[in-house]
Amino acid sequence: MTKVGIFFGTDTGNTRRIAKDISTALGSTIAAKPVNVRNATVSDMLMYDVLILGTPTYGEGVLPGLSTGNATESWEEFLPTLAGQDFSGKKVAIYGLGNQKSYPNEFVDAMFYLYEQFEQCNATLIGAWATDGYEFKASKAVVNEQFIGLVLDQENQKDLTPDRLNAWLTMLAKVWDD
Ligand SMILES: Cc1cc2nc3c(=O)[nH]c(=O)nc-3n(C[C@H](O)[C@H](O)[C@H](O)COP(=O)(O)O)c2cc1C
Repeated sequence: MTKVGIFFGTDTGNTRRIAKDISTALGSTIAAKPVNVRNATVSDMLMYDVLILGTPTYGEGVLPGLSTGNATESWEEFLPTLAGQDFSGKKVAIYGLGNQKSYPNEFVDAMFYLYEQFEQCNATLIGAWATDGYEFKASKAVVNEQFIGLVLDQENQKDLTPDRLNAWLTMLAKVWDD
């Protein structure tokens, strides 16, 4: 049975492409096909023991969604549906896409809003990632001196993405096998 669910928000497709890369890397016996969060419900997420959730950041440090001019609904509209839900025993790993050169003061901020909401739902957050190798001034996604999940910058550091992704997935597999 697949135990890893992959859900993403996106406007221009980068976060979806990474979701597909994750799904390919994990293989179909472990991971389900990635689902755009605008087509998902909370029950869809609760089917899995492990969730990998991807979000870009839009506006100035906010979640993707209609209010930031995205073409479709996204995490902005989904997150409120999680209020009061119980994700006890579920492991949640977050990856975020952003642009550290254009948005150095709000770099990948949207990751934090997912983190905050899933923590309130009693999920166990996994997959913190070192800030080494990124250049930015401020990010809400830094908690206890680490990013709360994997950070990718397809505009400025695309060449680093494959290695970052592999290292993160290897790290996650150790945690969810515990
Ligand atoms: C209008 C706009 C606003 C953005 N705001 C931010 C931001 O505040 N922080 C950040 O790190 N990246 C920001 N970005 C960069 C996107 O997060 C980045 O391009 C991402 O790869 C887009 O993902 P997607 O293709 O899945 O939509 C912004 C991009 C655009 C076009």
